[in-house]
Order: sequence, then structure tokens, then C-alpha cells
Amino acid sequence: MIPANTVRDIMDAVRIEEVVEEFVNLRRRGVNMIGLCPFHNEKTPSFNVNPTRNIFKCFGCGKGGDAVTFLIEHEKFTYPEALRWLARKYNIEIEEVERTPEQVAEQQLTDSLYIVNDFALQHFQTQLFDTDEGKSIALAYFKQRGLREDTIRTFGLGYAPSLHDLLLQRAKAAGHSLELIKKVGLCNQEGTRDFFRGRVMFAIHNLSGKVAAFAGRTMSSDKKVPKYINSPETEIYVKNKILYGAYQAKKAIRQLDECILVEGYTDVLSLFQSGIENVVASSGTALTEGQLQLIKRNTENLKILYDGDPAGVKAALRGLDLALEQGLNVKVVLLPEGEDPDSYIQKVGSTAFGEYIDREARDFILFKTGLLMEEAKGDPIKKAGLIKDILGSIARIPDPIKRGVYLKECSSLLDVSEEVLHVETNKLIAGALRKKADRDARQPQAASDSRTGSIRPDVPMPDPEISKPAREEGPKRGDEFQERDIIRLLVQFGNQMLSDENITLAELVVADIEESLDSFDNPLYSRIAQECHSRLLAGQPVTPEFFLEHNLKEVRDLAITLLAEPTRWNYSPNWEAMKDLPLQNQPMPEFNFSSDAQKSLNLFKLRKIVKILDLNKERIRAAEQSGKLEELARLHKVHIKLQEVFKEISKRTGTIILR
Ligand code: GTP
Ligand code: MN
Repeated sequence: MIPANTVRDIMDAVRIEEVVEEFVNLRRRGVNMIGLCPFHNEKTPSFNVNPTRNIFKCFGCGKGGDAVTFLIEHEKFTYPEALRWLARKYNIEIEEVERTPEQVAEQQLTDSLYIVNDFALQHFQTQLFDTDEGKSIALAYFKQRGLREDTIRTFGLGYAPSLHDLLLQRAKAAGHSLELIKKVGLCNQEGTRDFFRGRVMFAIHNLSGKVAAFAGRTMSSDKKVPKYINSPETEIYVKNKILYGAYQAKKAIRQLDECILVEGYTDVLSLFQSGIENVVASSGTALTEGQLQLIKRNTENLKILYDGDPAGVKAALRGLDLALEQGLNVKVVLLPEGEDPDSYIQKVGSTAFGEYIDREARDFILFKTGLLMEEAKGDPIKKAGLIKDILGSIARIPDPIKRGVYLKECSSLLDVSEEVLHVETNKLIAGALRKKADRDARQPQAASDSRTGSIRPDVPMPDPEISKPAREEGPKRGDEFQERDIIRLLVQFGNQMLSDENITLAELVVADIEESLDSFDNPLYSRIAQECHSRLLAGQPVTPEFFLEHNLKEVRDLAITLLAEPTRWNYSPNWEAMKDLPLQNQPMPEFNFSSDAQKSLNLFKLRKIVKILDLNKERIRAAEQSGKLEELARLHKVHIKLQEVFKEISKRTGTIILR
């Protein structure tokens, strides 16, 4: 147990930002610091750290608390573990009050797994440095591969001699339970022999520097023996969330704002000791979402080094769409044929190596485009396929501004007009959103009334006749006008289903501008957009009531104004651009949408009019029953007007809707 006064000392010393920064890349914003939340997957930072109050809070997922809470949540520490971690960080000595055997026995399983791994690490290191076999076989091998002793120690390299059960015996003798030794995979399931034998050992650290697992490389040249074997997955080793070298590279990745990704353990070691420290390895497998998130928390810039085998590279490129989806900027570097990062840096030295990767780094999308174009030369069918392939990648990019830049560049590379590329990309995005909506709809808690799209009769609807003339104010400054238009769409139509897509308009709008949610010029509009975003994430609908019953008067007032405005029966340029509305600070490009998109928007408006007509009919019936003649006359006029608008739009879409 940790005495109360020590706990107080620890809590006095703790600075929340220093603790969080060990795990999350933070930027200063005003008096606070912000970053990407480590507790949920997000692309725009909503994770806030408040140094003055010594707390953190995520406005996306709601998690919040002090440094201890953070460590308990993030590192899965127990309360005492979190305190001990903090005590170590701030050099505070803990005089533990004696612990009962029960308390010792109560230690978390994870804690014990780390302890066993730690024992194994020391064992492997002793075997490497202090035994004849280790020195003559393993240490000699590392040295021959150009590794220095400081690198060997920094990365926890070691040696497992080719003996039957040396580690097992030693671990048991030191009091470690056989169950735990089995559990971390250091012996076979029968508990009779060591798992790693005759191999040089690589410790695999988690982000806070604890040994989560091991990899062992064979010393045998027998091709039938697997080159590497790894510890099994356990509570402390979740393979798809760990990158080799991430603990050692973390600081450099943040400083340089770039992460270099290689394939192998030895590549990491070679680069790191040559001064290229921002390097991690995927350990030969395709990158997983969890690994990409780990990178994304530290930097948005990913540079991937490939051994120069074109077939292999082409296959690897497929996996990278996942990185784009995470909002990473991905560059690829092809190494000269037959070289891997380790062999190449040893050959040319670190300076030339650094220059090479700077010079040869290619933007992933443009690289892929070039590679495929080369292949499809003169073959129109192949070319059509590759365009789809590339647009498939671009469609994954969450930021519409970035998407636009790529479409422009690819338009000239592919020799296809930018407009066509835009239209095709938007189709892909809409398709993906539809799929996502389907998936969500199948999950019961997400199937709230946000997806039924029904307008309940009590929802106040704009009444075309009594509403004020169209915009009384002159066109506002570009951005503000766009922003207001987006809010107008959300207020007026947020909960409406798009006519031929299984998602609501709010979902489409918010998904498309997700990246720009915090770059609105107008603070009120910004707040509204962000709140809509959070609601949608929480599976709540964006209904007119949400705005009309908002606790902020400004929001209520704006909603009333917007709802009183006529829905724009006329096709405004903003409507057309809506599907791809980047809130950029430059003039809107003239997007020319396919007749498809126009038609679906028109159909959507028609459906809306049909609903207003129905609502109006109900009101007419009610007025008739209660004998309110003046009201009745007015409603009849509204009816006629609605009919006119309905006919007008039907004519334009060329669609006859039978009612
Ligand atoms: P050296 O041959 O010592 O230079 O190792 P390397 O790291 O360059 O290995 P290689 O390029 O063959 O493979 C790259 C990475 O893929 C390795 O670092 C491992 O992470 C992984 N890998 C390679 N072979 C195996 C294997 O047999 N089993 C497993 N689990 N992983 C492997
Ligand atoms: Mn190698």
C-alpha cells in the first residue's frame, strides 16, 4: 500500500500535460492543449488537456479525469500501478506499507505477465553478454550485422541458447508460476521445454516501454526452420496494436512530425543507430487499423520504405487505403532492387541514405497512379479499371480539400477531366456512406428514429406562404454564406432521408465536412455543426426540435429564422455544390454535378413537398372541423402554391410521381 502522504506528494507533482504527452501528441490551443483522443477513433482532435485544472476531457467520447484516471484508462493500470508509474516519473520514493500475501496474490494478471517477460528479458541479455555461447554465437552475429552495443541494449536484444529448458528452469527457480510462463508463451503448453531455443531475441515493447512480447530469429540456415517466431497474443500483446520500435521512436516521430515505416526488426535497428530514429516496423504484415491509429496519434505523416520489388510493392499498395482513411499523408520510397533498408544504409551510410529517401519519396496516390498508368499503356480497358482503383483510394481520404487537390493532379496524369473524376469519386463516397448506414441500421441501438425519415405532424414546418421573401440580406462574405447555407440545410432538412440513398441529409453533410467542423468562421455556426456531428455519432437524430429546443437562445432564434425561410425551390448553386462542399477559404470551384446527383436532390425535395402537402391537408381538415374559415382559406392558398412548386420540380426532373 502507498501511504496517504506519498499519494499527496505524487498528486502535487503531477502535471497532466506531461503525463498525457507520453502517449498523445498535443498541440497548444490557447491555455489548453488538444490532440487526437486515444480512447476513441477520431480524425479531428477533440481531446482537451487543461493544465490549469490538471485534467483532461474528450469532447468526442466524453472520457475525462486526472492523470491517474488517464493512466488507468489508457494503460489499463490499477490505481496503485498508476501511482507507482507517476512516482517513478516524478522521482518520488514510495515507502510501501507492508502488503499482505492476499494483496500480492491480487495483483493484476497483466502486471504478472510483464514481470515474467521482464525476467525473460534479463535472462536473454545475460545469455547474450555473459555466456560463452552467447558471446561467440549471438553477440558475434549482432556485431557482424553492424549493431553497436548501445543499440543492442536500447532495444533489449538477447539470446536464447539452444538448450532444452534453461529459461523454464531458471524462471521456476526464481518463483515464477508455470501458468504464467505458459501464458506469455515462453514455454510449450506442456510446460516441458522453452519456446525460444537457438535464436537471437528481440524484445517487443509497448508504448510505455514494457516488454509485451519477444521475437526470436533463428541462427540456423535451414530453410525449413521459420526465420522468426513470436510470442503468442496475450492480454499484454495485441499484435495488431503494436509496432516494433514505437517506444524508442516515439520522441523522434513527434519532433520530426514524421514516421518512417519499414518491414523488419533489423531495419529498425540499423536506421535507429544511424540516427534515423523515427522508425518503426510492421513486422512483415499488412498495417492494421490499430497500428495506423497509433501512428496517427503521433504524426500525420507516414513514409513507407519498400524493398524494390515492383510486384511486391504493388501488392503492398493495396493495404494503404486504410492509411488514407485514417487521414494520414502517405509517401512511399522504393529502395534499389535487392536492398532492404538495413542492407542499403549499411552500404551507403546514413547521409546518403537520408538523401536518397528524401529525394525518392513519392506521394502514395501519385505514385500508384504512375505505376498503374505504366502498366495500362495503350490498353483502354485496363485504364478504365485503374481509374476506378485510384478513385477508390482517393474516395477514402476524409478531407475534401485534400481530395480535391488529388483529383486535380490525377486529372492531368490520367488525362481525364477533373469534373468526371469528381462525379465518380462522389458516387463512390455516397456508396460507402450507404453501406455504412446499412451496417449501422443493422445494429439495434443505432436504429433510432433518425433513420426512419418520417416527419411527425407536430414538427413545425416552414409555411411557404407566411414566410418572408427569400434572402432579405445581401449575399454575405463567401465563407459565411456557405456556412450559413450548411446550417440552413441541417436545420431544415437534417433528419430527411436522401431520396435514393439510405442516409439522412445531416449524415451526408456532416460526413462530408467532418474535417472542417472546427474551421468555420462563424462561431455560432461552428458550434451548431459540431453539435450535429456529436449527435450523429451518438446515434441521435438532427431534428428541427433539436434546434428549436436548444438551451442556447441564439441557436433557437437562428433555427426559427431558418425554418421560416422558404426552402429554396429554385436550384441554387449552393444546392448543387452541397455534396462536395469544402469549407475552404478560396472561391468555390464550379462543380458540375452529374444529372444523377441533381435528380436525387430534386427527388428529395419533391418528397419533402409531398410531406408538406400531407401536413397541410391535415391542417385543412382540422380547420374544416373546427369551422375556422379564415384559416381554411389561407391553407387552401398554401395548397395551391405547393402544388405549383411540386409540378415545377417534377417537370424539371422529368419524373412523374404517382401519389
Ligand atoms: P534479416 O534476414 O535478419 O535481415 O531479417 P529481416 O528483418 O530483414 O527479415 P525479412 O526481410 O526476411 O522479413 C521482414 C520481417 O518480416 C521480419 O523482420 C519479421 O518481422 C517478419 N518475418 C520474416 N520472416 C518471418 C517468419 O518466418 N515468421 C514471422 N512470424 N515473421 C517473419
Ligand atoms: Mn534484412
